[in-house]
Amino acid sequence: MSSDNKIEIRKLYKIFGPNPLPLIDKVNNGMSKDQLLEEHKHVLGLSDIHLDIPNQSLQVIMGLSGSGKSTLIRHINRLIEPTSGEMMVDGQDVLTLSQNDLLDFRKNKTAMVFQKFALLPHKTVLQNVSFGLFIKKFDPLEAEKQSMHWIDRVGLLGFEHRYPQQLSGGMQQRVGLARALANDPDILLMDEAFSALDPLIRKDMQDILLELQSELKKTVVFITHDLDEALKLGDNIAILKDGSMDQEGDAVNILLSPKTEYVRKFVEDVNRSRVLKAKNIMQNSSEISKDLMNGQSMKVKGDDVIEKFIDRVVVDKPTLVEVLGEDGSAIGYLSAERLSEILRK
Ligand SMILES: Nc1ncnc2c1ncn2[C@@H]1O[C@H](COP(=O)(O)OP(=O)(O)O)[C@@H](O)[C@H]1O
Ligand SMILES: [Mg+2]
Repeated sequence: MSSDNKIEIRKLYKIFGPNPLPLIDKVNNGMSKDQLLEEHKHVLGLSDIHLDIPNQSLQVIMGLSGSGKSTLIRHINRLIEPTSGEMMVDGQDVLTLSQNDLLDFRKNKTAMVFQKFALLPHKTVLQNVSFGLFIKKFDPLEAEKQSMHWIDRVGLLGFEHRYPQQLSGGMQQRVGLARALANDPDILLMDEAFSALDPLIRKDMQDILLELQSELKKTVVFITHDLDEALKLGDNIAILKDGSMDQEGDAVNILLSPKTEYVRKFVEDVNRSRVLKAKNIMQNSSEISKDLMNGQSMKVKGDDVIEKFIDRVVVDKPTLVEVLGEDGSAIGYLSAERLSEILRK
C-alpha cells in the first residue's frame, strides 16, 4: 500500500441477491446489469472497482441515479459487505475488522453527511453537533466548546439553541457538516450532501466545504450526480455507470479527454472556461518559444478560472499569459494557441 493513499479499493464487487458469488464470473465475462437481473434475478451494484484515494484529497464519485454511488461509499465504512474484493483504509482491510474494531473505526475515523441531513429533531443545533462527542463520553464542557467551534466555522453562531425545523435546508446541512467535523474524523463521507439544496445555497455549501478542506485536509469522499459540482470540488473524479467505473481522473482529464460516450454526454454542456483554472491547463517554460517569452505578457493567478481573464486576453492580446502561484512567482504559462485549443475542443 502506498503511504500516500488513505483508501485503496481493489477488485470490489457487489451483487445484490441471495446467491451472488457464482455470478461474479458471469459479470466478468460481460454479462450486463440488465441481463443479470433478467436471467438471474440479482442486481449488479458494483463491478470490479479499483480506486486509490490519496490522503487529504477530495474524491468525487459521480454517476446517474442507480449507478452504484451510494453502494460504493457505504463499502468504505462497511455499512455494506462486498460480494468480493478489498477495501483498504490506512493499510488495513476493513473487511477483516472485528465487530468491535469496526464500530470503533466508524465512530472515530469516519463521519457521514447525508442528503436528508438526518438531524435529531428534538435536539438543538448544539446537541446535534455534540451528539457524537456525548456518545464518546467527552467531558460536557469540552464537548460544548468543541461543538461551538464547529458551529462557528459553518457560520451558525447564534443558532446553537434552535431546533432543526426552525432552520432552512441550507442551515440544517451546515449543522450536518458541523456534526461530522466535531468528531474530528480522518475521512468524511458525503452522499449527495448538497443535492437537495437550492442552487445558491448549494454554491455556498460548496464554498464552505472547499474553504474548510483547504485548512483541515481531511480525506473526503463526495458523491454527486452533478458534473459542475464534481468539477468544482474534486481533486479526482470517478464516474460510475451501471456499477462499473467508466473513467477516473482530474477535471482536466474528464473534460478534455472523455473516454466513453456516457462521460462525453456528461461533459458536453459544461462551460469549460468557468471550470478550468489557469493552473489546470498551464504549460511549462520548455513548451513556450523564446519569442513568446520575450513578448508582452499578462499576469493571472493560478486559481483564476479562464472565464475570469479571457476577455482581457481577447482585448489586450498579450503574447503570453503568465500564471502566478500563491507567492506571486510564475508557476507556468499559457500561450494564446493553448487557450484557444482548450476552449475550442
Ligand atoms: N439492498 C439492495 N438490494 C437490491 N438492490 C439494491 C440494493 N441497494 C442498491 N441496490 C441497487 O444497486 C444499484 C446501485 O444503487 P445505488 O448505489 O443506491 O445507486 P446511486 O447511489 O448511484 O443512485 C441500483 O440498481 C439499486 O437499485
Ligand atoms: Mg445514492
